[in-house]
Amino acid sequence: MTDFTEQLQVYQKSVEAALKRWLPEPSVQPEKLHEAMRYSVLGNGKRIRPVILYATGEAFGINLAALDGPACAVEIIHAYSLIHDDLPAMDDDDLRRGRPTCHKAYDDATAILAGDALQALAFHILAHDPDIQVNDQQRLSMIETLAIASGSRGMAGGQAIDLASVGISLTIAELENMHIHKTGALIRASAELGALSIDNVDQESLSRISQYAKCIGLAFQIKDDILDIESDTETLGKPQGSDIAMNKPTYPNLLGMDGAKKAADDLYNEALECLGAFDKKADMLRAIADYIVKRNK
Ligand code: IPE
Ligand code: IPE
Ligand code: MG
Ligand code: MG
Ligand code: MG
Repeated sequence: MTDFTEQLQVYQKSVEAALKRWLPEPSVQPEKLHEAMRYSVLGNGKRIRPVILYATGEAFGINLAALDGPACAVEIIHAYSLIHDDLPAMDDDDLRRGRPTCHKAYDDATAILAGDALQALAFHILAHDPDIQVNDQQRLSMIETLAIASGSRGMAGGQAIDLASVGISLTIAELENMHIHKTGALIRASAELGALSIDNVDQESLSRISQYAKCIGLAFQIKDDILDIESDTETLGKPQGSDIAMNKPTYPNLLGMDGAKKAADDLYNEALECLGAFDKKADMLRAIADYIVKRNK
């Protein structure tokens, strides 16, 4: 476990340093927008998507430097999704990562624009980063992977389902579909971008990794739903009880707390099965699956 914690910190430091390099300086015009972008991206996030991306890349023998750009791209999309998720028109939350949400620290318009600009920056990085080692065709596949995972067939689509589901009782299949899109899509893309960072990755390995990440992505949102009930605001750094306050359909709400925990555990086991053909280099991916279902924030 110590090995895991140490490796987690290696990845977290790597992405933090790279994010600082890619984000425009706050002294560059328009200063307020750049400040808001840095405020929302830097500091305090768990960086689980970059961590998954790095660990996948390393399972394929790719060096960290070649993974920094894609890791930043996916974390920046995630940060944008959180800024918009917290807006009054969406979840209307005031606290994120232990600090006022972007629209509270700045204002709604700046938060909307910070999200817009971050989304563009993520694709700029994938298109431009000279440290990405792959041929142009595969770089295009990376851009396409992130685009689909972020858009109406991925995260944004899942957020639309989430908003349309307030106060409605969904079936388990509908709830799973919502979670797979709003949260699962970016987590799955993180693993895929790690695998796509090697030239001519073999399709069989890519599809196993993708299936692994589909499982942990869904488990991640189930655990997020559980923590919304079982954790506290200080530990979470975001308001505990937000789902109940907003009348959101969640796993504990539909299956009961034990049922939700069992669903997460089943997905953990399925994720490990997907890694069956991988050697020790994939141990970090195994440990990440464990972390996702056991985390307390
Ligand atoms: C929160 O994501 C939103 C979800 C998709 C569940 P994280 O739990 O990864 O948030 P940070 O990045 O660590 O703050
Ligand atoms: C967020 O889901 C999913 C996103 C795409 C941001 P939640 O609304 O449950 O995330 P938290 O609990 O606010 O972090
Ligand atoms: Mg939400
Ligand atoms: Mg929310
Ligand atoms: Mg939540």
